[in-house]
Formats: sequence, structure tokens, C-alpha cells
Amino acid sequence: MTIATFWLSTALTELFAPHETIALVKIAIPWGFLLLVPMLAATGGSGFFLAKERRAGLIGAKIKRMPFIASNGILVLIPAALFLASKAKAAEFDTTFYAVQMLELVAGLTNIVLLGLNMRDGFKMKGRFRVRQPDRLSTKPIL
Ligand code: HEM
Repeated sequence: MTIATFWLSTALTELFAPHETIALVKIAIPWGFLLLVPMLAATGGSGFFLAKERRAGLIGAKIKRMPFIASNGILVLIPAALFLASKAKAAEFDTTFYAVQMLELVAGLTNIVLLGLNMRDGFKMKGRFRVRQPDRLSTKPIL
């Protein structure tokens, strides 16, 4: 949800808002990393802790996504956000700004999808999507 907020506020301001508002968003996003980075580390870390030695099935699929999520964040998203914040502060909305912005939006969307898949698999492991069967032994009428 944090990354989706960054993504949507970027897309909406760049489509519809003046440069001053875009700059406010671009400068605010790196501050959001102070929240996002520890939360992601805690999510991954607690996942590994709960998984113990298990590495098969859905846990394996979740683990395989983690290097992509982490390298996407460290190599693309954080440097891009810092670069865009400095460009926006200098009011330089040039071709380089928009090229890096496109790259950031694509990388951000990739991480939203990968984290969403990890969330889905987490809910699956906990049986959150299972439809409860009606109790066949019950004498109460089933509505
Ligand atoms: C950072 C991305 C991740 C997200 C967004 C995520 C999300 C979730 C969610 C939503 C649940 C369900 C919690 C519930 O319904 O109570 C869950 C459970 C779980 N996740 Fe993750 N997870 C992530 C990473 C990982 C990793 C890297 C591992 C394994 C190394 C992992 C292992 C587990 C396990 C074992 C459970 C089940 C916990 C239990 O049975 O109590 N997760 N996860």
C-alpha cells in the first residue's frame, strides 16, 4: 500500500497537476523510504522466521521473488527517487526527468505486483480464501 501510494500520487500529479505539486510529491517520496524500508525488511524477515527450515511450495515461490523485489528497490527505485527529487527541487522537468520517471513507474509497478503475489500466497497458506463448507451433521437448516 505504501508503494502503491507513491505510485498513484506520482502518476496522478504528473498527469494532472502543475510542476510545483509534482515537486512536492517527488521530494516527499524519499522521506517515505524511512517508513517503507524498515517495514519491507520486517515483512521479509518475519516471513523467513515463520518459514523456519521449510523451502518448498508457496514458501519457495515467495522466497524466489525476494531477490527481484530487493534488487529492484535498491538498484532502481531508491536511486531513481533520489535523482527525481533533486531534479524536481531544481525545477528541471526535462527529458531526463521523464525518462527516469518512466523507468521508476515500471520498476514500482513490478514491485507492487511481486509483493501482491507474496501477499496472495501468504493468505493462501493461512487458508484465508477457503470457502467454509456447510456443516453436514448440523440439524440447523442451511440458509
Ligand atoms: C515481503 C514480502 C512478503 C509479503 C507481502 C508477505 C505477506 C504475507 C501475508 C499477507 C501472510 C498472511 C498472514 C495472515 O493471513 O495472517 C503471510 C504469511 C506467511 N509468509 Fe509472507 N510475505 C512476504 C514475504 C515472505 C517471505 C520472504 C517468506 C519466507 C521466507 C514468507 C513466509 C510466510 C509464512 C511462512 C507465512 C505463514 C505464517 C503462518 O502460518 O503463521 N513471507 N505473508
